[in-house]
Amino acid sequence: MTTSLKGKDILHGNQFTKKDIDAIIKTASYFEKELKKKDQVSLLKGKILATLFYEPSTRTRLSFETAMQRLGGGVVSMGSVESSSVAKGESLADTVRTVAQYADAIVIRHPKIGSAKEAADAVSIPVLNAGDGAGQHPTQALLDIYTIKKELGSLNHLKICLTGDLKNGRTVHALVEVLSLFGAKIYLVSPEILRMPVEIIARLREKGMEVLETSDLKEACQKSDLVYMTRIQKERFTDLSEYEKVKGIYVINEGLLKGLHKTIVILHPLPRVDEISPAVDEYSGAAYFRQVRNGVYVRMALLAMVMGKTVK
Ligand code: NCD
Repeated sequence: MTTSLKGKDILHGNQFTKKDIDAIIKTASYFEKELKKKDQVSLLKGKILATLFYEPSTRTRLSFETAMQRLGGGVVSMGSVESSSVAKGESLADTVRTVAQYADAIVIRHPKIGSAKEAADAVSIPVLNAGDGAGQHPTQALLDIYTIKKELGSLNHLKICLTGDLKNGRTVHALVEVLSLFGAKIYLVSPEILRMPVEIIARLREKGMEVLETSDLKEACQKSDLVYMTRIQKERFTDLSEYEKVKGIYVINEGLLKGLHKTIVILHPLPRVDEISPAVDEYSGAAYFRQVRNGVYVRMALLAMVMGKTVK
């Protein structure tokens, strides 16, 4: 299989073509099958990945590090911001230029929108955006897409409800861009102050996507194949009293689930706070921990592809 992602940065959900998505899904699916047979696919032996996280992370960082090690490569990590030279006032460009002397690719998470692009512009090795503030989170979108395909069997013409913090949630910002390639109809359910940015909605509609905004979670779920729940992003609020007003406003619990059709799939990028009650975990369509696992296969695919490796 040829890869169009060789040497490329992964920065934004709108950078992919359908052909890219197809190649990523095929490659991830190959790694998923291989890891059922063995612990490692030594495609990136000798290569080094650097992870630079300026914001907290559990899944994204550990799944990238797992992915690199399953590919036979090594990982170096900056550790916490407080323990690095960032604490001495080093600029982002200088930090990534330094790291590029050690590593073959960089994964970066940073609180500022546009920071991953800024990092990518400073170095020639591939930079993968693991979340730039309330901006984008494209690798999450790709693992979401892989999960949707696996759970529902197809990506075409789906009806998807996205809910929670659509203003600050970078996972949904990236996911809708990818979904727009597949003729999806989306229902956006959020409190008034956390609506999806108008410029994103306008771009989706320009691309022919049907976008409906509503405040009724139950009704939107009843019409959807899948509901994508997100956490209210407390850390992005400047006024915490505003957060208090909207926290817990949309919750998926057993009561809501009873009123829905029995095949609805539930995704969440995690971490969750209180927006999906733990009792829902037993429901067969609750796919968020399967989604976590898929993150390893998809990130293996991305690392292999940006480093120019192809699979059968
Ligand atoms: C998300 C993030 O960091 O944007 N987490 C993740 O990467 N799986 C979602 C969140 O923090 O709410």
